[in-house]
Amino acid sequence: MSNDSAASRTSRLSGFYQKSVAERTAIIARWADLSPEEVAVLHEGLSVAQADKMIENVVGRYSLPLGIGTNFLINGREYLVPMVVEEPSVVAAVSYAAKLARTGGGFVAGSTEPIMIAQIQLLGVADSVQAAAAIQAAKSALLAQANTSPSIAQRGGGPVDIETRYLPDTPTGPMLIVHLLFDVRDAMGANAVNTAAEAIAPTLERLSGGRALLRILSNLTDRRRAWAEVKIPATAFGVLDFPGEQAIEGIAQANAFAVADPYRAATHNKGILNGIDAVALATGNDWRAIEAGAHAYAARDGQYRALTEWRVTTDSTAGPQHNFLYGRVELPLAVGIVGGATRAHPVAQTALKILGAASARELSEVMAAVGLAQNLAAIRALATEGIQRGHMSLHARQVAIAAGAAGADVDWVAAQLVVEGQVRVERARELLQQTRSV
Ligand code: MEV
Repeated sequence: MSNDSAASRTSRLSGFYQKSVAERTAIIARWADLSPEEVAVLHEGLSVAQADKMIENVVGRYSLPLGIGTNFLINGREYLVPMVVEEPSVVAAVSYAAKLARTGGGFVAGSTEPIMIAQIQLLGVADSVQAAAAIQAAKSALLAQANTSPSIAQRGGGPVDIETRYLPDTPTGPMLIVHLLFDVRDAMGANAVNTAAEAIAPTLERLSGGRALLRILSNLTDRRRAWAEVKIPATAFGVLDFPGEQAIEGIAQANAFAVADPYRAATHNKGILNGIDAVALATGNDWRAIEAGAHAYAARDGQYRALTEWRVTTDSTAGPQHNFLYGRVELPLAVGIVGGATRAHPVAQTALKILGAASARELSEVMAAVGLAQNLAAIRALATEGIQRGHMSLHARQVAIAAGAAGADVDWVAAQLVVEGQVRVERARELLQQTRSV
C-alpha cells in the first residue's frame, strides 16, 4: 500500500503514545507497508559493519530513540513523521501541536527549487570589474563545464547560473567571490556542487587573472528554502485554565519577544530546530548544515531574530469574535532523499519510507511544518502553564515505566507522582506494590 493509495487513512493516531513499542511498530509497519526486514532494521539499527563503512576509526555505534510524530496534515496529505531525538517531550509536543493545527485544516507548506550555492574565492584579481564581466561573458561555457554530475543531470538538475560578489574590505584585502548556482534535485548536493566548483576554478583563474583558493558550498542555502503556514482557531487553544483568546495573544507576544531580542531568538529557534533536526537525523540528513543555514538566515538583516511569525488574525467571514492564530516559518533547508547517509544508513531508508516523501522538496516542506509545530508547542506551553508541567508529567510516565508499571497503571502512577510532587522510581514502586497487595 503506497501512502497515496490510502487517501482515506489518517495520521491522527489517538492514544498511540499509550501503546507498547511492539503495537506502535505494527501500526507503522502497516502504514508504510514495511517488510519484516525493515521492521527488524527499525529495532536493531545500523550494524557495526555498516558503521565501519560510513566514517573512520569506528569502534562501535551510538543509538538514539526513533519516535513517530503523529497527526500531521500538510498540503492535504497525512504524514507520520520519524524523529530521532534524545530529549523527552519533543515528540509528544510536536504531535500535540500537529493535532491543534488540524482544527485549522493542517499546514500549508511550500519550497523553492533545490538550488545550492558553491563559492569560489578568487585572490589577487587586479581589476575586479573587468574580471566579473569576463566571467559573465563566459557563463554558458562555465555552466557546461560545471555540469559534472550525471545522476543529477539525469533527474533534470545541474548548474543554472553564475554570480559574482566583490568583497573590497576583508582582513587580508579585497577578493572576488564567484557563486555557482546548482539545481541538485533530490540530493542534498554537497558532493555535486563541491566537485563542480573545483571543476570550474581553473577557468575562473584564467578569466580573472586571479588565484582560486576556497572552492566549497555555502551552508547559507538561501536559494533553497522551505516554508510552512498554519491558521488555527482560538477556540482550539481553550485548554486548562487559559481561555483560547488569551493563549493566542500570549503566543503572539512570545514571538514578538524573539523577533526583537537575540537572547530569546536563540532559544526560540532552538525549539524550531528540535523538530527539524530530529527529522534530519531520522532521514540521514546533515543537521549541522541545516543548523548553520538556519542561524545565518535568522541573522540576514544584521540582527539575529526568530525564524517564525505568529499573530492573531480575525476572519471577517466568520465574524469579529472569531480570532485565529496565524503562524509561518521560512528557512533554508538543504536536505536530500538520495545519496549520502540517506542511502547508506538502513534506518534512514526505512524512516524515509515511513514518511513517504517523494522528493527532497517534499521532505523539506514536511520539515518546515514540523519546525513550526515544534515551535508552536513550545511557545504555547511557555505562554500558558509553563513548560515544566508537561515535562513533569512525561518524566513521571518514564519513571512509572522504569518502576515496572505497564498498560493502564502507567497513567495513574504518573498522575499520582505529579500530584505528590515526588517523581521518583522508589515512590512509583511503592504505589504499584500497594495496589498489587489490595
Ligand atoms: C527546549 O528544548 C526548547 C525550548 O526552550 C524552546 C523555547 O523556549 O521556545 C522550550
